[in-house]
Amino acid sequence: MKDKRLIRVAFFDTKPYDEEYFEAHRAEYPIDIKYFPMKLGPDTAALTAGYDAVCAFVNDEIDKTTAEILTKEGIELIALRCAGYNNVDLQAVWGKIHVVRVPAYSPHAVAEHTVALLLTLNRKIHKAYIRTREGNFSLTGLVGFDLYGKTAGIVGTGQIGRITAEILRGFGMEVLATDPYPQEAWAQERGIRYVGRDELFERADVISLHCPLTPENRHLINAEAIRRMKRGVIILNTGRGALIDSRALIEGLKTNTIGGAALDVYEEEDKYFFEDHSDRVIQDDVLARLLTFPNVLITGHQAFLTREALEAIARTTLSNIQLYFEKGELPNEICYQCTKNACPRKERGRCF
Ligand code: NAI
Repeated sequence: MKDKRLIRVAFFDTKPYDEEYFEAHRAEYPIDIKYFPMKLGPDTAALTAGYDAVCAFVNDEIDKTTAEILTKEGIELIALRCAGYNNVDLQAVWGKIHVVRVPAYSPHAVAEHTVALLLTLNRKIHKAYIRTREGNFSLTGLVGFDLYGKTAGIVGTGQIGRITAEILRGFGMEVLATDPYPQEAWAQERGIRYVGRDELFERADVISLHCPLTPENRHLINAEAIRRMKRGVIILNTGRGALIDSRALIEGLKTNTIGGAALDVYEEEDKYFFEDHSDRVIQDDVLARLLTFPNVLITGHQAFLTREALEAIARTTLSNIQLYFEKGELPNEICYQCTKNACPRKERGRCF
């Protein structure tokens, strides 16, 4: 733990909107920030020499090599300014560097964006917007369907999945859910029914993914799952890209099994998302193909991007850093053992 001097933190992959919200609160914390626009990974990890902690985002790559370099440079804390942690090799950092995250900043932001994607895709608002701006007021090709009375399937009823489910119930949809840890009391109160994953795939008109990316959940939506689905199903993914096998999704779209997909995340997004590539040719043929479908809507990992979420991310991240370096406290720690449900945290108040 550090004494009274400022805690030096190297922030990676920062954008103007990150800096705006962190700068608004930085003076309230004993923290000195250096913003690096590049991503953290094996090639940039050496930049952390002389810092106490790093702050990373969803597409920074904290693999084994990066972890070794960070350890060598004396980094004590990785403060993720996001909820997901699939980009961190937790086993590689276990016992060497603590990892904290922002477990919840605004589940409403993500749930509301999910529903915005659904409404836009179904009612073809994205097409109507372009048409009317060009003086084209034709309605041909803009037919959608009523959500009322249709069935939604929520995969993962954590914070975001539950809010999404509640909004969809508000539209008068029947909501089915699947989760290895069902929230039965909540479901009963909201008129939501837990079913097995196969039944959800078979019955849902709209499927929305809200579970974390883990090795077990990789390609949860694959060719076999798609074969089970209702013809014309709409798939929403604001979780993580690799929950879907994108090639299988493309096949499902080509055969009209899938009626539409709205994606805020993509399995190879780290090469493209958060940056302007509009003056270059997209080399990723899967992404390029997805972008050609009239019934695919892609946003660039934007679901979290509200004022409230950015404010909460900045405050919780700065507080996570201060608490560790001033008091040795790690309320939002996540570790390899946590993911195996074997974390000794409960007894110790911290993971190691
Ligand atoms: P949470 O931890 O509150 O809930 C996740 C739920 O998924 C848990 O209830 C868990 O039991 C369940 N789950 C795990 N594996 C499952 C499976 N195979 N099938 C069904 N359920 C399963 O997480 P929260 O806050 O709701 O976030 C969900 C995910 O959303 C995050 O892991 C993250 O990847 C993503 N996310 C995306 C954002 C964006 O901007 N697009 C922003 C924030 C989170």
